[in-house]
Amino acid sequence: MAVIGIESSAHTFGVGIAEGGRVLANEKEMYRIGTKGMIPDEVADFHIGNAGGVIRRALEKAGLGSGDISGIGYTRGPGMGPCLQVGQLAARFLAVRLGIRIVPVNHAVGHIEAARSFGGLDDPVALYVSGGNSQVLKLAERPFRHYRVLGETFDIGVGNMLDTFARKTGLNPAWGSTVDMAGRGGRYIELPYSVKGMDFSFTGLLTKALALSRERGMRDLCFSLEETAFAMLCETAERALLLTNSNELCVCGGVAQNARLRGMLRSMAEEHGVRFGFAPDEFNADNGGMIALVAERMLDAGRSVPVGRCDIEQRYRIEKAHVV
Ligand code: FE2
Repeated sequence: MAVIGIESSAHTFGVGIAEGGRVLANEKEMYRIGTKGMIPDEVADFHIGNAGGVIRRALEKAGLGSGDISGIGYTRGPGMGPCLQVGQLAARFLAVRLGIRIVPVNHAVGHIEAARSFGGLDDPVALYVSGGNSQVLKLAERPFRHYRVLGETFDIGVGNMLDTFARKTGLNPAWGSTVDMAGRGGRYIELPYSVKGMDFSFTGLLTKALALSRERGMRDLCFSLEETAFAMLCETAERALLLTNSNELCVCGGVAQNARLRGMLRSMAEEHGVRFGFAPDEFNADNGGMIALVAERMLDAGRSVPVGRCDIEQRYRIEKAHVV
């Protein structure tokens, strides 16, 4: 029997269907951010308008009817409250309507699970890099099985840093991927490199790069911005591998789509004889498939929750989430 996963923590309304650890469908609609940024209530309205259609499409893609579904999971958090509410209500509605079990899922655990599953890894050190997050994590068994944060950003996520640089320097579209394209073939300019213990910080780097944008060529700056930020992430991931004596590494989250970052991590992993894995791009961006993968494992382990106790948590830290 198959399990549905619903993701709605930010701009994406995603619905995935998993069965036996495989994703049968992964459908989504994404709110276009434009120049205003994300206004939570507007994004939530977008999700309400798309929920029914995306759920239907996912079932069609998987070739399943509602009678083939045995359980459902949804993103409990972290994310924007009004957006999380839409996914939670859609999941509760389906759970009651179909008489199936339901389980809340941590969004970050979903990202790691996608990389672990598609990368064929067992217990990796995980580098989770997205707009809002940059963390290095590893499973810990006490006081319960959870992902322990070994290192993280002091200020903004690496994706947010790259997006902000793109927006403030007038790159179009104002995304990190545009910085990546603009920097190809650039030469290195020294920029602030800030790793403190196992943590790191990106605002100093961003400020300096913005200040230099009036006098230095964009190609060299974009190239150097990525090289510096990614080297910081690699250094922390490398130390986490050594600290935990791990032989597996994965990268996940939106910024994991960056081929340069993956290349740097791969060569570092190879030097240490460590296996390296990641998910295909559609599972690094926010998606329902990763929530379905986690939900299936949790339901198999008997971790369903009564519908009336399903809630959302905007600041749902990954260390608080039970992992099975
Ligand atoms: Fe995400």
